[in-house]
Amino acid sequence: MATVTSVSYFKRYKMEMELHSMPSPRLPDEFAFVAWSCELLGAHADMLFGSFHQEIDAQVFPSLGDRQGALCLMIEMTRKRGFLPEATWLLLGPLGPCGTVQGLCERDGVGAIQNLGILPGWRGRGLGEALLLQALHGFRQAGLRRALLEVTAQNEVAIRLYRRLGFRRSKTLYKAVPYQVLSPEF
Ligand SMILES: CC(C)(COP(=O)(O)OP(=O)(O)OC[C@H]1O[C@@H](n2cnc3c(N)ncnc32)[C@H](O)[C@@H]1OP(=O)(O)O)[C@@H](O)C(=O)NCCC(=O)NCCS
Repeated sequence: MATVTSVSYFKRYKMEMELHSMPSPRLPDEFAFVAWSCELLGAHADMLFGSFHQEIDAQVFPSLGDRQGALCLMIEMTRKRGFLPEATWLLLGPLGPCGTVQGLCERDGVGAIQNLGILPGWRGRGLGEALLLQALHGFRQAGLRRALLEVTAQNEVAIRLYRRLGFRRSKTLYKAVPYQVLSPEF
């Protein structure tokens, strides 16, 4: 037996929208947005791991399936030149943090939403929509006029949310993800 590298391809959509006339985010009582600060790095990483590790995107981006990987991802993101604190928010609920979203400014002045995540126990009550709107308003504050994101085609809940807020599909991409398999042939 030997290990060989195989590759899975995941269909992903790039979605885009113009940033005009967006509703203001509305949160239920006992929830609040917390603005980015370096001390929150660990809390964002915990929310990334907690929101994504059981989801399809943990197969597409294996570091999301691992607590340490999520921390490294978060560190990398905050060190990028385009990292936008105005579009990076932690969602605080009655029992502590329960969601995260991060934003980057791409070279052409477009805001790129990264990793919108709500912990499983808090989904289906409008928190994902509110957190995304908060980040989009952050792009506006930073002077950006357009936003984009990428989403795995199987992630129907997320796609419905993005469409509801005005995002439209602009491109289909295929993400190659290598993985190791045991092969009896060798
Ligand atoms: C995608 C994600 C962020 C959505 O978060 P959420 O908080 O559940 O989002 P919302 O509550 O705003 O919307 C989800 C659904 O709840 C419904 N909803 C909103 N408020 C509601 C309420 N008060 N009562 C009942 N349902 C409600 C919405 O209409 C929506 O329904 P739909 O699926 O028919 O469109 C969340 O599922 C998640 O973290 N997934 C894993 C990570 C992930 O895949 N992120 C996206 C990467 S691109």
